[in-house]
Amino acid sequence: MDQQQAQNQIEQLRSQINKYNHQYHVEDNPSVSDYEYDQKMNELMELETQFPELVTSDSPSQRVGGAPLDAFEKVQHTVPMLSLANAFGEDDLIRFDRRVREGLGVDEVSYVCELKIDGLAVSLRYENGTFVQGATRGDGTIGEDITNNLKTIRSIPLRIDQQDTIEVRGEALMPQKSFLALNKAKEDNAEEAFANPRNAAAGSLRQLNPKIAAKRNLDIFLYAVGQWEVGTLSTHSERLTYLKEIGFKTNPEWRICNNIEEAINYVNSWVEERSNLNYDIDGIVIKVDRLDYQETLGFTAKSPRWAIAYKFPAEEVITKLYDIELSVGRTGVVTPTALLNPVKVAGTTVQRASLHNEDLIREKDIRINDTVVIKKAGDIIPEVVRVLSDERTGEEQVFQMPSDCPACGSELVRLEEEVALRCINPSCPAQLKEGLIHFVSRNAMNIDGLGEKVIEQLFHENLVHTIADLYKLERKELLKLERMGEKSVENLLAAIEVSKQNSLERLLFGLGIRHVGSKAARTLAEQFETIDHIVEATFEDYTSIYEIGEKMADSIVRYFDETRVKQLIDELRSLGLNMEYKGIRKSDKQEDSLFTDKTVVLTGKLEVLSREEAKEKIEAYGGKVTGSVSKKTDILIAGADAGSKLDKAKELGITVWDEQELREALKE
Ligand code: IVH
Repeated sequence: MDQQQAQNQIEQLRSQINKYNHQYHVEDNPSVSDYEYDQKMNELMELETQFPELVTSDSPSQRVGGAPLDAFEKVQHTVPMLSLANAFGEDDLIRFDRRVREGLGVDEVSYVCELKIDGLAVSLRYENGTFVQGATRGDGTIGEDITNNLKTIRSIPLRIDQQDTIEVRGEALMPQKSFLALNKAKEDNAEEAFANPRNAAAGSLRQLNPKIAAKRNLDIFLYAVGQWEVGTLSTHSERLTYLKEIGFKTNPEWRICNNIEEAINYVNSWVEERSNLNYDIDGIVIKVDRLDYQETLGFTAKSPRWAIAYKFPAEEVITKLYDIELSVGRTGVVTPTALLNPVKVAGTTVQRASLHNEDLIREKDIRINDTVVIKKAGDIIPEVVRVLSDERTGEEQVFQMPSDCPACGSELVRLEEEVALRCINPSCPAQLKEGLIHFVSRNAMNIDGLGEKVIEQLFHENLVHTIADLYKLERKELLKLERMGEKSVENLLAAIEVSKQNSLERLLFGLGIRHVGSKAARTLAEQFETIDHIVEATFEDYTSIYEIGEKMADSIVRYFDETRVKQLIDELRSLGLNMEYKGIRKSDKQEDSLFTDKTVVLTGKLEVLSREEAKEKIEAYGGKVTGSVSKKTDILIAGADAGSKLDKAKELGITVWDEQELREALKE
């Protein structure tokens, strides 16, 4: 293929991919399977690798192309990004309408009502049809250049069918589902969770490495324009329609309201309905529709006179707090939880709310049997806002945190600089149970069939107390448990057996050493290679590793200093658990390794390794993994059900390996 042919083919692929992308991420109406999409993308990337001079920054292959930055550049907004005046009730809206009509000297004004998306305001700049710059609002005059992060949002078109310079503005957001999944992963890794989807979206877009933003599954709705040289439109509603036409994602829920009463009805219709959306909104924005009216009304110093933001009050409901329950977490922290008469808030029924610690209970003077006001913080996490002390009958009881652990009875301590009370008994059954739940979890030992319910039963029946006991479970004991038939017992025992072969980092993370998340566990395993090396290492050995700070190092040293930990490790070893790192070792990364300068293609279903793992490992050995088979391919790794790529490789006489051969080569 010559350069001209390649150019044509690349152009065709890009426009097909852009179309598929738009159908999937903007219209929510895909026309091809993920597989077909991936094929096109692979083909494009292959061609761009062969003809690097044809790569452009607006190619769909470049969505996650940017290198990590040291800091964001500043961007001066050509038209300031203003915010809106707020309205908190119908009265405010009626006053707004009166001011608008008086300002214009007319009796009737039509408004566009839109959802007020609770995300992060951004501005997107297009020149000659190409997305060239994306920025945060900043102080309204100067924002930060987050182009590379915004490019990872698939609903943002990298090209549009409009050659004039335009700037469109809107709200980047994280859908609730992605937010919950992200926080779950953070918790699994002992990292701090985000308080709400807005913070999560903002935090993701402020990452200097676009690869992180790319994983966060962000979305966007566009609702306004900045610099704008498209002349013919006369209303805001026409603009919204036009934005959609040229490829931007606009929110479909906007309506034209012919007067403020209709707007108020629209507002009220969303008070309940908003809990059915899969993203957060915090109000309704009401905008004068006619652009000439907007111009006449103009701006105050801070905001336009032609628009207002109606803010929903966080829904608050009243219920009874009938008890306070204490739970002991994996690290021994004792957390009080309010038990509530079930009540519906913002779309779900709430019956528990964390009270976090004793200080908070004192501050809010929360007593058992109090009537309390509940809301969902950030619309998600239930919270006791305040007590209705007028409702007290004298039946209420002041709550005292116990001095002893509710699970094991040993004395609780309050560590320096902590508000939490902790049980520091290492054999506390509640901690052990939580520790076991963590040990078997997906990012740790990943033992299928050992959910919370089964672990609870195992504890209840006195079948396990420590991690080691898991590996001593017997078939006949398990058969006695409720809902455990022959087949599930067999599967469970097999899963426990398989877990013995896990690479060291899983065991390390599973042990639940304070401050050691799954990433740190992997680093430790990679650096020290065996558990014995880790146990023998000193504080300085740990801190000499870039990713390991003093707090973590201190915690690791203390952990392995304990006799019971040493005993546990000996016991696990004698039960047959692997204590070595099985990934690629530093010492194995030889220069002349098998894959140096080799181009490898993966196809079909791999059984043991995931695609991602296989790719990572081949690359670590110096190989390059590409998507499609060509004459340049050196090795094709064919998993189960390999199709056309295998045929093509055979045709071209390329070396074909199965997964087993790959794993042998990788010394897996
Ligand atoms: S219009 C000059 N429309 O709310 C007017 N803003 O409190 C520009 N927001 O800064 C704003 N949804 O970040 C507009 N449909 C919507 C919106 C919206 C969310 C945000 C935006 C703005 C803030 C104002």
